[in-house]
Amino acid sequence: MIFLDNIGVTYQDGTIALENISLQFFPGEFTVLLGSSGAGKSTLLRCLNFLTIPTKGQVRVEGIGTLDNPTTLKKHRQKTGMIFQQHQLIPRQTALKNVLIGRLAYHSTLRSFFPLPKIDQIIALDCLERVGLLNKALTPVKQLSGGQQQRVGIARALAQQPRFLLADEPVASLDPGTSHKILANLKKICQEDGLGAVISLHQIDLALDYGDRIIGLANGTILFDSHPSNIHTEQLAGLYQHSPSMKTV
Ligand SMILES: Nc1ncnc2c1ncn2[C@@H]1O[C@H](COP(=O)(O)OP(=O)(O)OP(=O)(O)O)[C@@H](O)[C@H]1O
Ligand SMILES: [Mg+2]
Repeated sequence: MIFLDNIGVTYQDGTIALENISLQFFPGEFTVLLGSSGAGKSTLLRCLNFLTIPTKGQVRVEGIGTLDNPTTLKKHRQKTGMIFQQHQLIPRQTALKNVLIGRLAYHSTLRSFFPLPKIDQIIALDCLERVGLLNKALTPVKQLSGGQQQRVGIARALAQQPRFLLADEPVASLDPGTSHKILANLKKICQEDGLGAVISLHQIDLALDYGDRIIGLANGTILFDSHPSNIHTEQLAGLYQHSPSMKTV
């Protein structure tokens, strides 16, 4: 479980991106962060693995402790996979080599200069198979479609053998059909492995279709936090009535 205890983020230029956020994220739960541009979705996601360090409050992880020192942070990051909108893959490298990057968290920096052990290759190939891309293992990722590249990004995060997956707009640049396939695949894997997932999305229909829980954000605060069946149309409309945050200290 990941706990956010009353966290806030104020960026250096004075922009208040998040205020008084207290949340718990559970293993096995597929949580969607929904909100208009500037609502604070990426900031909240990045706080969950300290890519953005909250300026207020604490982040605690069950079994690891408070993320306030390099030891707990390293342990937490090893078990937290991140999936990005723009994949952040190495284009000229094969799908397999990109997925193997997910294994580096388990090796020393020096070890990572040499070919990784066979077991890591087996784990990476298994992850590619789970996203339906075993047949592309030796293809350079620049020769793959956008949807296939995103699946390589998911396989790389899975290769970390995480407990939590964080995904920032993982289907923002994909067509609706591909977006559905990718989210369905991701949700199935999370259910099979009991992984917690926190995913930011722009599309309400996708959030309602796949979220076990939807957290609506506006101007850096939580508007609602519910199961999709309990969310009213007015609440969804409210998300987009708020103008992007212009708050500063
Ligand atoms: N590095 C930064 N420095 C200053 N302000 C920032 C920084 N990153 C984000 N912000 C501001 O913080 C607020 C929240 O931004 P954030 O990126 O978390 O929103 P978002 O919900 O992910 O938006 P989008 O849907 O456009 O990705 C916005 O007002 C944004 O302009
Ligand atoms: Mg964002």
